[in-house]
Amino acid sequence: MFTDRVLSGMRPTGSLHLGHYHGVLKNWVQMQHEYECLFFVADWHALTTHYDTPQIIEQNVWDMVVDWLAAGVDPAHATLFIQSRVPEHAELHLLLSMITPLGWLERVPTYKDQQEKLSEKDLSTYGFLGYPLLQSADILIYRATQVPVGEDQVPHIEFTREIARRFNHIYGREPGFEEKAEAAVKKLGSKKAKLYTELRTRFQEQGDNEALESAKSLLDEQQSLSHGDRERLFGYLEGGGKMILSEPRAMLTLASKMPGLDGQKMSKSYDNTITLREDEASVTRKIRTMPTDPARIRRTDAGDPKKCPVWQLHQVYSSDGIRQWAETGCTTASIGCIECKQPVIDAVLVEQHPMRERAQQYLDDPALVRNIIADGCEKARKLASETMRDVREAMGLSYG
Ligand code: TRP
Ligand code: SF4
Repeated sequence: MFTDRVLSGMRPTGSLHLGHYHGVLKNWVQMQHEYECLFFVADWHALTTHYDTPQIIEQNVWDMVVDWLAAGVDPAHATLFIQSRVPEHAELHLLLSMITPLGWLERVPTYKDQQEKLSEKDLSTYGFLGYPLLQSADILIYRATQVPVGEDQVPHIEFTREIARRFNHIYGREPGFEEKAEAAVKKLGSKKAKLYTELRTRFQEQGDNEALESAKSLLDEQQSLSHGDRERLFGYLEGGGKMILSEPRAMLTLASKMPGLDGQKMSKSYDNTITLREDEASVTRKIRTMPTDPARIRRTDAGDPKKCPVWQLHQVYSSDGIRQWAETGCTTASIGCIECKQPVIDAVLVEQHPMRERAQQYLDDPALVRNIIADGCEKARKLASETMRDVREAMGLSYG
C-alpha cells in the first residue's frame, strides 16, 4: 500500500516535440523499469485553460498517447490512462475542496503567473483556481510516493503535501487513537513490535529520518495487517492520527536544455520545434534552413560556433569527434554550414527512426491504442477506488 509508486500526467494541449522527448519521456521510459509507474493524460487540466477550444484537446489526447508509445513508454511496464475516464479523481477533488482554504490556492505561484502569461484568456474561473487541487487529487488518489515534474510544478507537489497533512489531521483522529495504535503494535508480534517501537522513538526523540524510513519499510512488509491498523501504525510513527493519505515527493526532472531551431529553448510557443515523429523530409529541411552564425556570409568566412544554434544541437547529438570536426571546420572556414549540419540531421533521424516505427503499428490499428488505454483506465480505477473507500469512510460517507 505504501510502496514506491510513480505518477505523472501531461496535458494534451499540443503535439509533442523533441524537447518533450529529452526533457520528460526519456525519463519516463527509464523509470518504468525501476518503479511501478502510472502515466496519464490530464485532459481535465487542459480544459482549465482551453475550455473554449475542446476540439484541440480531443485531437491531442490520442496523438499524445501514440507519442508516448512511440517514445518507448511500454504498456507492459507502465499503466497508461486518461484522467477523465477515472471519475474518482473528480470525486476526490470535490471532497478535498471542503478542507482547502481559498488562500492556499490563491497563493500558489502558478495561479497569478499563468493568469498574467495567458492574459488573452479569462482565467478567473473556479476551475482554474482549483488546478493545483485537482492535481493533488490525481496524486493522492494513487498514494503516489514520487511525482516526476519540472521545476515549475514543485509548488503543486508542496501544496499536495499540505493538503494530505491537513486531511490526515482532520480525519485521521479517532477516539482512543493511542490505545488502538498500541494494540496494533502488539499485533506485529513481539520482535517486530519492539523494533517498531525503537525506531519510532528514535525518530520522535532524535528526528532520525533513517529510523523513520526503516520503520516504514518494516510496515510495508507486513502482509497481515488490517487496513485501519496499517493507517494507524503509519500515522503513529509521525503524529497522533491515522495516515489516510500519504505525502508524495517531487522527483525533479532537470529542465531540458533541448535547443530549438533558433537557439532558444524548444517550445511550441516559439515555433521552433521538431515534432517527435516529424517526417524525414521536413526534419531535413528545417535543419538545413536553420540560421547559423551571421558572420558566415560567404563559404570562405570563418565563424564562431558559440554564435550558432546548430552548435547547440551538436552538444545534444554529436560525439566529441564530430564536435571537434565542426568547431575546427567552422573557425577555419574549412567546412560549410550545410556540411556541418549533416551529422545533426543524421542523428535526429536515427533517434526518430524507432519512434516512427513503433508508432506505425498504432497508426495502422488505432484499436490497439484504445485497448491499451481501456486496460490502463481499468487498473487505475481499481487503485483509485481503494483510496476512495478510505476517504469516504473517513469523511463519514460510508452509509453502507
Ligand atoms: N500540471 C502538470 C503540468 O502542467 C500536469 C499534471 C496534472 C500532473 N496532474 C498531475 C503532473 C499529477 C504530475 C502529477 O505539467
Ligand atoms: Fe554553425 Fe556549423 Fe555553420 Fe559554424 S559551420 S556557423 S557551427 S552551422
